[in-house]
Amino acid sequence: MSLAQLIKNRRTVYQFEDKPISLNLIESFIEAAVHAPNHKLTEPWQFLIIGRQTQDRLAKIYASNRASKNHEEGSEGYRLSFENSIKKFLAIPQLVLVVQNLSKDPVICKEDYAACSCAIQNFQLSAWEQGIGVQWSSGPILKDAETFSILELDSENHELIAALYMGYPLAVGESQRKAISEVIRHYD
Ligand SMILES: Cc1cc2nc3c(=O)[nH]c(=O)nc-3n(C[C@H](O)[C@H](O)[C@H](O)COP(=O)(O)O)c2cc1C
Repeated sequence: MSLAQLIKNRRTVYQFEDKPISLNLIESFIEAAVHAPNHKLTEPWQFLIIGRQTQDRLAKIYASNRASKNHEEGSEGYRLSFENSIKKFLAIPQLVLVVQNLSKDPVICKEDYAACSCAIQNFQLSAWEQGIGVQWSSGPILKDAETFSILELDSENHELIAALYMGYPLAVGESQRKAISEVIRHYD
């Protein structure tokens, strides 16, 4: 596949086969990620490869966030939503979380977020090339104080900017874009 085809064919994937991804492959995606452009070579990222024990702990945070959105704690609705959410989260074959190391300078911080986004796209494209799908999630577990405690991060110096849910796709959806004529402006 050419690079242009790879870029156009990549889709966010939400359903995965129950099949692990080798650590070598994950590391190769991170190798591609860290080659992203980053202004002043700040290399503002960390990639947290999550094992099953930590995924179990994060699942509880994910589930309580989801359940408490629509149900009162202690209710039957809460219990059902909590249990379904635990199952859903544990069905993700592999989780990689991306941390942005926060600069005190707001201009550098903005540029570093851009660099981290480039890195994540490199990661997603490398995964896609190997037949592995990724969903970039920016859900509430990334903001939860308990997540920071489990991962031994401190919110003054670190921002969790992405949970990458990964696996071999069971299904791939569609996603359309506007015609480029709608987003281009020509100037003399
Ligand atoms: C910064 C960012 C945050 C995202 N957060 C979520 C998310 O929380 N949940 C989700 O389902 N998808 C999330 N996505 C994925 C987008 O929904 C997805 O890229 C978009 O629907 C286009 O689909 P495609 O990736 O298949 O082209 C996020 C993407 C980006 C760039």
